[in-house]
Amino acid sequence: METVVSGIRPTGYLHLGNYFGAVRSFVKMQDAYNCLFFIADWHSLTTHPRPEQIRQSARNILTEYLACGIDPEKATIYIQSDVPEVLELYLYFNMNIYLGELERVTTFKEKVRKQPDNVNAGLLTYPTLMAADILLHRAQKVPVGKDQEPNMEMARRCARRFNNIYGVDFFTEPESYHFSEKAVKVPGLDGSGKMGKSEGNAIYLKDDEATIRKKVMKAVTDAGPTVPDSPKPEPIQNLFDMMQIVSTPDTWNHFNDLYNTCNIRYGDMKKQLAQDINIFCAPIRERILELQADTQTLDRIARQGAERARESARQTISEVRRIIGFRS
Ligand code: ADP
Ligand code: TRP
Repeated sequence: METVVSGIRPTGYLHLGNYFGAVRSFVKMQDAYNCLFFIADWHSLTTHPRPEQIRQSARNILTEYLACGIDPEKATIYIQSDVPEVLELYLYFNMNIYLGELERVTTFKEKVRKQPDNVNAGLLTYPTLMAADILLHRAQKVPVGKDQEPNMEMARRCARRFNNIYGVDFFTEPESYHFSEKAVKVPGLDGSGKMGKSEGNAIYLKDDEATIRKKVMKAVTDAGPTVPDSPKPEPIQNLFDMMQIVSTPDTWNHFNDLYNTCNIRYGDMKKQLAQDINIFCAPIRERILELQADTQTLDRIARQGAERARESARQTISEVRRIIGFRS
């Protein structure tokens, strides 16, 4: 059976972008693959969070994984820092990948632009740690959003480079997995770009009805089309894209027809969209509230996940050591 690995950095709560870009694939894949889903708390250190933030965010994401329907009986759920074996593989990959290759990764260049005062070595080697996360379990498939493609390219390179240097056929090159044929980008509703934590435009799975309504009603729109069948400007396209993700095709067609006949009222469209987002989020929100109080169960799931993940990790590390020439 093929192995699947993916993780999300615990830097707050999960939003609709995380869900439709990644987590719903986790839920779908757990029935058909050997799945390991983790919380990438080591990766979150690039921005130096406080200890209490780290603990709380990891607990939040664990709760939300479960609330979204990841079943700890089907998939292994663990916290990255509970499985230190990954650091050994990270070290080996860092020996095989060149500085220039890491500097050219577009996600790194973006971070350098965004946080010029904190270009630490962890940021540079973020992709080799991610490669280690994946290859630690020799995973073939990785459910992630489109924005992770540069990091996935580096994971493949780590696999290839290791095999070439040691003349083995040990790691398979992992490929990204998308829920549907095309990778979805969940848009932000603030005019352009994607929904994201750092973009400050996220609608969170835990948001209550009033919060969702407030966020959606603030979405950027314009005066509306004056010519039938005109192309949609980006902010309007984003509104429609969001509706395509959470509403029924009938609803989307209804508003699309109104747009094409210049009869659209964005206030009505936003109300409908807010309602449909709430219908989607409400059951997840309820489960989050139920689960978050039960810290004992959360701890038990994390402990059990860590044990299973370490077992799989130790097998890989033992073989890697033997291949490299260390005692295994
Ligand atoms: P953020 O951008 O909010 O910091 P992360 O980078 O931690 O979110 O992303 C975690 C996972 O969610 C990744 O697999 C990423 O590709 C996916 N993801 C995040 N935002 C979106 C989005 N707007 N559309 C699609 N996928 C997304
Ligand atoms: N880089 C991913 C993100 O920002 C998180 C991540 C870390 C990850 N390690 C991974 C995703 C391994 C998939 C597989 O969302």
